Amino acid sequence: MSKYAVATVGEIPPGQRKIVQVDGRSIGVFNIQGEFFALRNTCPHQGGPLCQGIVSGFLSATTPGEFTYVRRGEMVRCPWHGWEFDIKTGQSWWDPSKTRVRTYEVTIESAGEQPPAADVSSASTDVPPGYKPGPYTAESFPVTVEKQVVYVEI
Ligand code: FES
Repeated sequence: MSKYAVATVGEIPPGQRKIVQVDGRSIGVFNIQGEFFALRNTCPHQGGPLCQGIVSGFLSATTPGEFTYVRRGEMVRCPWHGWEFDIKTGQSWWDPSKTRVRTYEVTIESAGEQPPAADVSSASTDVPPGYKPGPYTAESFPVTVEKQVVYVEI
């Protein structure tokens, strides 16, 4: 298996998706409440662009007329003929024993090495000529900028 960087985490906010090309395959990468999932963007029915379809959830009812909407944002409906698939597993729900769409492993990693944190205590020694440090010191904190990257394994 090979791992491909397909986006930064910030490029795919919760509830959104990004269609990417990886090694000749079209793949939809979805962010469901901060978790990332990848599906082949080819519908098992007739090859429609599955991952471009409407994203929805399930309606669940215990009695007629009373229903609840569950698993919001976890189902995708193919734009060609409406077959629905579970984004997390690729499972279909009209023929679950036979039909599913290919899924891929998704990982999130930091990009590159982080530079060493600045030594804040040494900053006070950089006193310009003619200046004298005052008696007070404001509290300061180390700051790092991390870039999280979404990887898909195929
Ligand atoms: S091609 Fe997707 S439902 Fe027909």
